[in-house]
Amino acid sequence: MRRLFPPQPADVPSPAAGSDRTDGDLWDLEALAGAYAYPAVDGPWLRANMVSSLDGAAHHGGRSQPLSSAADMRIFGVLRGLADVVVVGAETVRLEGYRPARPRAAFAERRDRAGQPPVPAIAVVSASLDLDYAAPLFSAPRVPTLVVTGAEAPESRLREARQAGVEVVTAGAGGRVDPGLVPAALARRGLYRQLTEGGPRLLGQFAEAGALDELCLAVSPRVALGGAQRVMDGPATELPADFTLTSVLEDAGFLFTRYRRTRE
Ligand SMILES: NC(=O)c1ccc[n+]([C@@H]2O[C@H](COP(=O)([O-])OP(=O)(O)OC[C@H]3O[C@@H](n4cnc5c(N)ncnc54)[C@H](OP(=O)(O)O)[C@@H]3O)[C@@H](O)[C@H]2O)c1
Repeated sequence: MRRLFPPQPADVPSPAAGSDRTDGDLWDLEALAGAYAYPAVDGPWLRANMVSSLDGAAHHGGRSQPLSSAADMRIFGVLRGLADVVVVGAETVRLEGYRPARPRAAFAERRDRAGQPPVPAIAVVSASLDLDYAAPLFSAPRVPTLVVTGAEAPESRLREARQAGVEVVTAGAGGRVDPGLVPAALARRGLYRQLTEGGPRLLGQFAEAGALDELCLAVSPRVALGGAQRVMDGPATELPADFTLTSVLEDAGFLFTRYRRTRE
């Protein structure tokens, strides 16, 4: 994996003979973890990680895996390894069969030092609370899974969730979640380093609310065609919001871009 932007200093050592990597140091988990470290800010930081095909599809046949690669999964793992919480829309949980995050030996010490449990919590955003509470995501997590919902969520579903040991977080006065309130609601639980893995409908709302601080967008060198959503979905914004490019890595034709929301 090599860095395209910002440009690398000329004295970076070339890869070892016989190595199948073009740049051993960036393939290293420690180096990637350093490169993707959360900024030191006062308060929560909401980062998104998504993969898109060349023609803008966020999935192929309802799954993102056909667009992904080994390097994409590596960065996916690194971003999880750095996060306090992974925020995800209920439809992605249902379609992708989400499971609890797995502890990874490579991140154990780093997480311990940062005062983090071995894995990030998963926070599922849902209005309906129509979730399979018997599934491992809820029944066998290392840290309790959260459900983020509105104040008027269906009572019987709330009971079901609580009986399953799920922590319910309210962020919104009506039946739905107000996406702009989510980062602060999670931060009140000590979850500051936030990572959202979509899906497109949830991510579109975070962007629209001005709550998205950073986008890690992998561009896959594949064409999907069809009518799949883009990585952000929703009604057009009044004014397009600007993001600033902060880094680009490349591996096997995949571009791992990173943007920060431009602030006035
Ligand atoms: N390319 C990628 O990196 C990537 C990443 C993730 C997902 N995906 C793909 O995206 C597809 C699913 O994405 P999606 O956009 O359809 O769904 P999504 O954003 O994952 O989930 C939508 C659901 O989240 C809940 N939700 C969203 N906004 C809400 C709000 N304001 N208040 C309360 N609940 C809210 C609702 O759940 P309830 O229905 O339970 O109320 C809604 O139905 C899948 O095919 C997946 O493979 C791709």
